[in-house]
Amino acid sequence: MIRRFGLTERALHWVHATGFLAMLATGLVLYLPVLSELVARRNLVKNVHLFSAVAWGSALALVFVLGNRRRLRDDWREIETIDADDRRWLRGRTSPQGRFNAGQKLNALVTAAFALLFVVSGFFLWLGERDHRFLFDGTGTVHELLTLASVGLLVGHLYLAVIHPSTRHALRGITLGDVREDWAREHHPKWVDEERGL
Ligand code: HEM
Ligand code: HEM
Repeated sequence: MIRRFGLTERALHWVHATGFLAMLATGLVLYLPVLSELVARRNLVKNVHLFSAVAWGSALALVFVLGNRRRLRDDWREIETIDADDRRWLRGRTSPQGRFNAGQKLNALVTAAFALLFVVSGFFLWLGERDHRFLFDGTGTVHELLTLASVGLLVGHLYLAVIHPSTRHALRGITLGDVREDWAREHHPKWVDEERGL
């Protein structure tokens, strides 16, 4: 076995995923008339949506304050570096991948950018209701388009993490922390070489 994700990384993933799924579920109830009618407690659902946003932000801040920030910094550096192998991989050619493949790097970058945009648009939705000077026409549309795009990403992510036979072993890494070395070598050979000092 080989260590893939430490406690801080797993906490970051599951805190983000839990907060996101809670906001997605409540957001969809606010957005889709079928669900709004079914639940019929708009105020309560809206409060849960906003409470989830605050809880999510606070829990993420706690992971940063209490967790292994050096490890998170290293992860970020890795994710924002798209090298020649990654570019080849993105053009559909086989190319050895590091700890994250180029698709995962893009997924992580888009997820981080969307999280920021959700916070900004959500904050202005909240503020605009209280102070009409901050009520802008497109804010709701931005928030809704982000939701639709995120659902697309999430479906792909869940397919690879839970269903696709060749990639679903990754689930062990994000829950227990380690993965089989032969699996890692097949999917992330540059990372395994680095770990083993080759
Ligand atoms: C993180 C910070 C977030 C904040 C502060 C926030 C805040 C808000 C607010 C104030 C509303 C307006 C509720 C209303 O007046 O009916 C809203 C609606 C909504 N939110 Fe969020 N939200 C956040 C994140 C998210 C996320 C992550 C998702 C989806 C994954 C999401 C999906 C939605 C949807 C679909 C609606 C309904 C839009 C509509 O009715 O037009 N939100 N949000
Ligand atoms: C029950 C739901 C989820 C499952 C089972 C799941 C599973 C996984 C797994 C197995 C990995 C590790 C992949 C690897 O070994 O490199 C991972 C990474 C990741 N997850 Fe999730 N995840 C879930 C929800 C989410 C949600 C809701 C988000 C964001 C909105 C998210 C964002 C990410 C990101 C950015 C990464 C790192 C990059 C990547 O692997 O694409 N995940 N997830």
